[in-house]
Amino acid sequence: MGSNPMGLIVALDSPDRGFEGLVEDLCGVVDGFKLGLPLLMGRGPGYAAELRSRCREGIWIADLKLADIGHVMKLTTSLVVDHVDAVIAHGFVGVKGALGELKEFLESRGRKLIVVASMSHPGAEEVYDKALPLILDAIEELGPWGVVAPATRPHVTTSIRERLGPRVAIVSPGVGAQGAEPGAALCAGADYEIVGRLIVSSPDPRSAALAVREAQRRRLASC
Ligand code: XMP
Repeated sequence: MGSNPMGLIVALDSPDRGFEGLVEDLCGVVDGFKLGLPLLMGRGPGYAAELRSRCREGIWIADLKLADIGHVMKLTTSLVVDHVDAVIAHGFVGVKGALGELKEFLESRGRKLIVVASMSHPGAEEVYDKALPLILDAIEELGPWGVVAPATRPHVTTSIRERLGPRVAIVSPGVGAQGAEPGAALCAGADYEIVGRLIVSSPDPRSAALAVREAQRRRLASC
């Protein structure tokens, strides 16, 4: 297992609501925030700075799900790079002329690259899982700070941990709304679980986040 035995990152995706109060409520309770494309496109990239001004703690991730040539991925990333700690890109685009250039750009700005190794939805079995060995080859060559692995299919997360070893951070979405139980991905080798709707759609997000933390703790105790 990696460095953080019980990480919790909250996904903020909806462009239709302001998250300022929620970020203030969850600051210090969770380990970070992941800002989705609908939010960043709807509110504008500067909204990342607005939200971050409400909580200087934790890791802030722009989930841009980049999949383009390096030049364009850098242009896209440059819109948010000053406001976040890390950016997510797809793994299937490969290293040369793509992820390698993006990683160099991010590191020159003191930022981290997180690469999608597989996904949490059922369709990931159709293509992503079949390509997993090749994607992991690329990730090994690249050496990003982190990878995304699915909480919904813990055996995939375990195989990614076994292949990449302890140094890479594994962030794992799919907890709650997509069906995985809190703590399942941590038991499978992830460092952080990403939780969106289960927390942000709750009438009391702070209590919901504390409940997820408690469920993670209980699950980890019986891994
Ligand atoms: P919910 O509301 O389902 O939100 O808890 C989940 C969040 O995680 C993102 N997501 C993924 N990101 N690979 C990724 O890189 C995945 O397999 C994956 N599955 C979910 C989703 O965009 C949302 O922000």
